[in-house]
Amino acid sequence: MSEAQDPTAFELIGGEGAVRTLVDRFYDLMDLEPDFAALRAVHGGTLDSARDKLFWFLCGWLGGPQHYVERFGHPRLRARHLPFSIGIRERDQWLACMQQAMREQGVDVDLAQRLSEAFFNTADWMRNRGA
Ligand code: HEM
Repeated sequence: MSEAQDPTAFELIGGEGAVRTLVDRFYDLMDLEPDFAALRAVHGGTLDSARDKLFWFLCGWLGGPQHYVERFGHPRLRARHLPFSIGIRERDQWLACMQQAMREQGVDVDLAQRLSEAFFNTADWMRNRGA
């Protein structure tokens, strides 16, 4: 009998290179698409540090290497988002932006659906404003 475990989402999506491509597309779309303007406005002038941090974070969150935790310790994601005003509109734009990035990258439809549910829960937990 094989003892092999089910592949992680990190492996299914294609490893570090694929996560980096996804994160870069996510921030490119945020920068370019008028539909994500409210989300873009929450961010500062440059998205460079956000790109690196989300890439490091997602590697671990998807079941791969814990680059973020090795650099910064526990993510404390909700606390780290408190300086930014995040409501339903920002949450929904974050999710839509990530869904578009996954679609454009050709992430398997079932995997994208599974990840969307997890992303929604995380994004909703980040809300610190009612509307
Ligand atoms: C709900 C809507 C969200 C908004 C408006 C938002 C906005 C932001 C902003 C403005 C930053 C600071 C970027 C910088 O350092 O320049 C940030 C950082 C970050 N965000 Fe979000 N975010 C959202 C959801 C999420 C979600 C769902 C995740 C994870 C799945 C996430 C993961 C991160 C990480 C890992 C950082 C870096 C934290 C740090 O070390 O400072 N964010 N976010």
